[in-house]
Amino acid sequence: MSRFTELPKAELHLHAEGTLEPELAFELARRNGVDLPFASVEDLRAAYDFTDLQSFLDLYYATTAVLRTRRDFHDLLWAYLERSAAQGLAHVEVFFDPQAHTPRGVAFTDVVDGLHDALTRAEAELGVTGGLILCFLRDRPVEEAARTLEQARDRLDVLLGVGLDSAEVGFPPAPFAAVFARAAELGLHRVAHAGEEAPASSVTEALDHLGVERVDHGVRCLDDPGLVARLVREAVPLTVCPLSNLRLKVVDDLADHPLPAMLAAGLKVSLHSDDPAYFGGYVGDTFDAVAPDDTTAALLARNAVEGSFASAGRKTELL
Ligand code: HPA
Ligand code: ZN
Repeated sequence: MSRFTELPKAELHLHAEGTLEPELAFELARRNGVDLPFASVEDLRAAYDFTDLQSFLDLYYATTAVLRTRRDFHDLLWAYLERSAAQGLAHVEVFFDPQAHTPRGVAFTDVVDGLHDALTRAEAELGVTGGLILCFLRDRPVEEAARTLEQARDRLDVLLGVGLDSAEVGFPPAPFAAVFARAAELGLHRVAHAGEEAPASSVTEALDHLGVERVDHGVRCLDDPGLVARLVREAVPLTVCPLSNLRLKVVDDLADHPLPAMLAAGLKVSLHSDDPAYFGGYVGDTFDAVAPDDTTAALLARNAVEGSFASAGRKTELL
């Protein structure tokens, strides 16, 4: 039981594909006749021993092969929503990676509609609100991102925004400027992973070239005092995921995590689970692991609600 269950929490950094627990992966593999390169749930879980972001992504993309139908995407996200609602989840903005699915022959609409089915059900049955954020894979060609955005044209009503994820080092934000500008024209919000493994300049580039309204991770901004001053001045929300940073060796120990320094600098930091099935904790577990006291937990939760793309009315309810 989380110490912070009663605190209404907004998840702003949560990858749908990162909620795939090994048990569900095997169930879907059976249901869809897909071979997983692991003998058992225990074998798969034993592979969760990551050395960096890329070693995690290799496994993350391999297991997504079991996701094939609209029902699969519903079942995936519904399992996350039920489990997180029990830890006080009130609102969630869900990242998803269409390019991890469409090249395997999965229809873009099945991915979006399945995830949206789960969100619709969550609002009715759990009182959890939310939306979807389509992420482009930054280690895939820009033209593929542009085509993916065009595929989204008849689902704009269920999309909150676009994001940028996958391998960060060697794949800077700037080449995606035109795709993000197009997303803005379509009325979509913009966020990007930046400053997770790559230096602070990645965050500056995401702000300057992509016009992002939030930065995902952003922990390396602390290396650039001028950038920190800008992020504070512009009150840019940073969606921080300490358990992810620990498991992907961005930090060696939770005690070394920059969260306290980020709070002390006056940054608008919030706390999220990233890929909870892989990193050992859902949103309440994350608060339990790093929130030092009730006052700080309340500040982190408030920052998340304020930094969300929820309606003004929903924000008022949650604050
Ligand atoms: N970083 C980049 N890409 C990702 C992550 C992450 O933490 N999780 C899923 N895709
Ligand atoms: Zn992430």
